[in-house]
Amino acid sequence: MNLPSIHDVPATRPQCIAPDTWLIPNLAPAGEGLYLPVNSMVIRGREPVIVDTGAPLHRELWLEKAFSVVEPEDVRWIFLSHDDGDHTGGLLDALERCPNATLVTNWFSVERLALEKPALPLHRMRWIEPGGSFDAGDRVLQLFRPPIFDGPTSRGLFDTKTRAMWIVDSFACLTTGSLNADDLPQQMLAEMMPAFNSAVSPWHAWLDSATYGRHVDAVEAFGATTVASAHGPVLRGERLDDAFDRLRGLAGAPIIPTPGQELLDTLLAPTLVEAAA
Ligand SMILES: [Fe+2]
Ligand SMILES: [Fe+2]
Repeated sequence: MNLPSIHDVPATRPQCIAPDTWLIPNLAPAGEGLYLPVNSMVIRGREPVIVDTGAPLHRELWLEKAFSVVEPEDVRWIFLSHDDGDHTGGLLDALERCPNATLVTNWFSVERLALEKPALPLHRMRWIEPGGSFDAGDRVLQLFRPPIFDGPTSRGLFDTKTRAMWIVDSFACLTTGSLNADDLPQQMLAEMMPAFNSAVSPWHAWLDSATYGRHVDAVEAFGATTVASAHGPVLRGERLDDAFDRLRGLAGAPIIPTPGQELLDTLLAPTLVEAAA
């Protein structure tokens, strides 16, 4: 059987989500009328920043969209949140097309990427840990450890000028098409976001709620007014408050089961019917 392809998704285009800040969206099919966002971001300030580089699946689309909002030679920074494949799809292209860009990453990401990509240019890198920051000319960008993550190298990014935040793999949630949380059914956010947070970071079941709560508080205390993520809708206001509250609720709570054989059987059922006909 053939699963739906990336051509079976609604068209998306870059969206300005905060001053100077563009979401670069792509979608992957995820069931009847549902799609998984695979976003990245571009900050178009004095020293433009590419924030993550999409998935290999969307490489061509990502290049087209990202470089429709910024000229490659103007890009001064490529911030890589972590080394997972769905964030590094256009990394080599971006390094090649943006000769004036410095790659912001860390030692462990580089070690891990060395196992799957050609050698990256060490002389074009800056290694920055959570708590560190870099100056992009007209703004300071602060790195932090996201509250939910599926890779140990993950670092989020907070723009102190616009109060926009990139929270990486936290707050993942399927969408019916829109990338604005205000447009999605609240029931959907309430059910799906905890399920995805649990799938991404199943270690939440062993967390002490007071200790984890302090980490979530610290991320919330940045005071972001717009929060974008790689796999969820853009959150603001009450939707954002709800999302942080749901995170706190995961500490010590049982893992939310992900689909198993039953789903595979459902997906294969039409093929079996066809074969029997
Ligand atoms: Fe990841
Ligand atoms: Fe991801």
